[in-house]
Amino acid sequence: MVAERSAQVLVASNRGPVAYRPAEDDPARLTARRGGGGLVSGLSAIGPETGAVWVCSALSSPDREAASRAGRRLDSADTGGQAVRMLDIPADVHDGAYNGVANSVLWFVHHLLYRTPVEPSFDAEFARQWAAYEAYNAAFADALAEEAAEGAAVLVQDYHLSLVPALLRERRPDLRIGHFSHTPWAPPDYYRMLPDDVAADVLRGVLGADRAGFLTARWARAFADCCADVLGAEVTTGEDGHVHVVHEGRTTRLGVHPLGADGDFLRERSRRHDVAERRQQLRAQIGGGDRRIVVRVDRTELSKNIVRGLYAFRRLLTDHPEWQGRVVHLAFAYPSRQDLAVYQEYTAEVAEVAEEINADFGTPAWTPVVLHVEDDFARSLAAYRMADVALVNPIRDGMNLVAKEVPVVSDEGCALVLSREAGAYAELAEDALTVNPYDIAETARALHEALSMPKGERAERSKRLADAATALPPADWFLEQLEGLRG
Ligand code: G6P
Repeated sequence: MVAERSAQVLVASNRGPVAYRPAEDDPARLTARRGGGGLVSGLSAIGPETGAVWVCSALSSPDREAASRAGRRLDSADTGGQAVRMLDIPADVHDGAYNGVANSVLWFVHHLLYRTPVEPSFDAEFARQWAAYEAYNAAFADALAEEAAEGAAVLVQDYHLSLVPALLRERRPDLRIGHFSHTPWAPPDYYRMLPDDVAADVLRGVLGADRAGFLTARWARAFADCCADVLGAEVTTGEDGHVHVVHEGRTTRLGVHPLGADGDFLRERSRRHDVAERRQQLRAQIGGGDRRIVVRVDRTELSKNIVRGLYAFRRLLTDHPEWQGRVVHLAFAYPSRQDLAVYQEYTAEVAEVAEEINADFGTPAWTPVVLHVEDDFARSLAAYRMADVALVNPIRDGMNLVAKEVPVVSDEGCALVLSREAGAYAELAEDALTVNPYDIAETARALHEALSMPKGERAERSKRLADAATALPPADWFLEQLEGLRG
């Protein structure tokens, strides 16, 4: 029997550290796999002995089944010793909150993604989704209030759960609450696109936290600007050097924690057998022993700007025909958010543009773009090791860990073409070739420059990039946030 109010440290996120699926040999048996992302490796550093509890959402029917079989907390054997409480939120509520408000509205606002004169339209459907978002956030706040020991530290993650800090504070004023945004934050002129009450509720929700964390100072500033603009909150710099937002008599301190790559894990993982196998397969696809390699790895995500990246590669081949036959673009995309039509369409567009380039430039002996739309981490690592150039050109990105991972595992050093709109720009700009992600001609020029960089310079820059990329590994990033709540 799990005691109520026993956890000293809690984490809350939509996607948790474990995901279930039916076993292949026996569909009645559920098997667990580790969930992805830096947060998972970050939290594993805390260890089960601290009594930390991770509250997350069941994301599939097998997850729901596993959660209901387990009772209040999932079996720690499945979760690597981590205590997990998986919330069984009704599917329609989760859909409205996750696909509706979180991914179709808040994600779009923070990434400045709306494209047509009719988007967004805040209609009756949105009202239903917003009610679902409130219910979903309330379910998290209830579970956290039930699990947290007196004075416990609660770390709430991301835009799915922006209302949780305020809701939890109402339920449990004794707790120390942090919120962390893994996305950018929209500037006020764009943020005000949200209906007034929604715009204010999201900000008030996050301000329920004692500390609100961001990946860069730029996103923290945008959040403070929105608080001043929408709520009339007072923004000051405290004696501790942190930005303070004062609203309705409470102060929320803003923190900047630039999540880094997990160097030890990546180096070890990239030397395993499956990565060597993928490398051989890729070599066969690339052909011609000394061909150069430009790699990109993303989720199939609008903000990643994959289509413009492909146009820039095309422009490189046109402006510098000397590269024809001598360079291959490995473009890997992990399917993401395919419940949303706009993501399906974007994924199809990426495939079409890649095919067009191959049709226009390819020869029997050379395929210019090798596109894989599949989730295959071993293949990505193989490509990272081999690449001469990494292309990271999002139109806006909270951090972008690919930019940090490639130099860490690269065999001989890799040049980085990096968007100035990625959070990683703040730490990596000096040794990257930086671009305006909307400017296809400039991106093509940067690709040419990167491919032409002398090997020695490339290796030196790559080494410095790797050092900057691993400055704050996930475990330290997590502990920093926890420390921040104590101070
Ligand atoms: C990216 C973002 C995170 C977000 C996650 C959700 O990693 O940087 O801010 O939480 O996507 O992805 P999902 O697949 O769960 O929609």
